[in-house]
Amino acid sequence: MMGINRRNMSILLATIFGSSFLLTASWGSSGDAVFAAVTHGPTKEECAACHMAYPAGLLPARSWKKMMGELDRHFGEDASLAPEVASGITKYLIENAADTPRGTQLMSRIASGIPGNSAPQRFTETRHFGYLHDEVPSYVWKRKGIASKANCVACHTKADEGSFVEREIRIPKQ
Ligand code: HEC
Ligand code: HEC
Repeated sequence: MMGINRRNMSILLATIFGSSFLLTASWGSSGDAVFAAVTHGPTKEECAACHMAYPAGLLPARSWKKMMGELDRHFGEDASLAPEVASGITKYLIENAADTPRGTQLMSRIASGIPGNSAPQRFTETRHFGYLHDEVPSYVWKRKGIASKANCVACHTKADEGSFVEREIRIPKQ
């Protein structure tokens, strides 16, 4: 069991204070929990129809390639696109993926936690997601206002701008 450190302390506080408590303390903030905002037009339009447009830096290129090749079977939905639209989006996602050589430290940490022979389709099932969120109790994930780990924006108020810094986190009360 981990001792109290800056990271789990703020979660502890958020949990104790009932949650809608804004994590104003920037103690643990590394300042690098920011991804490039999704600026590619078609990705912003087509990939934010059902959920926020996830930053390309959340998954390695091979994951995006696989996902874009099976959009007709996308998490139980048909998210198919015209081939030319899909290929533009694929190119954008691959060029900005977690394993791109010019990625940020956060991106390389995500990438290095994923075995080379796997192409996960969910950032929420990667090792680094687990590491970053290991102090969030399981009952919190089940709150109605969250519903899914993939619902980043429920807690990260600026997730749709690519920002996940600690001071912007607000955990829904229920
Ligand atoms: C028709 C609706 C729909 C569209 C359009 C759509 N998605 Fe999804 N996507 C889903 C659903 C449903 C899930 C599962 C969400 C959940 O588990 O809460 C999902 C999950 C994901 C996840 C996994 C999130 C995680 O880490 O758990 C990624 C990545 C993703 N979508 C990327 C994309 C991309 C890229 C596009 C555009 C090409 C796209 N989606 C378009 C419905 C859609
Ligand atoms: C239950 C609310 C919740 C949801 C939903 C959630 N997170 Fe988090 N996230 C947290 C908390 C709490 C932390 C830890 C904050 C800390 O100690 O810095 C965190 C930390 C992070 C960090 C590191 C922040 C830093 O300052 O280093 C990243 C990046 C991140 N989350 C990304 C995501 C992404 C991407 C999603 C969606 C796929 C997501 N999170 C979904 C609550 C959530």
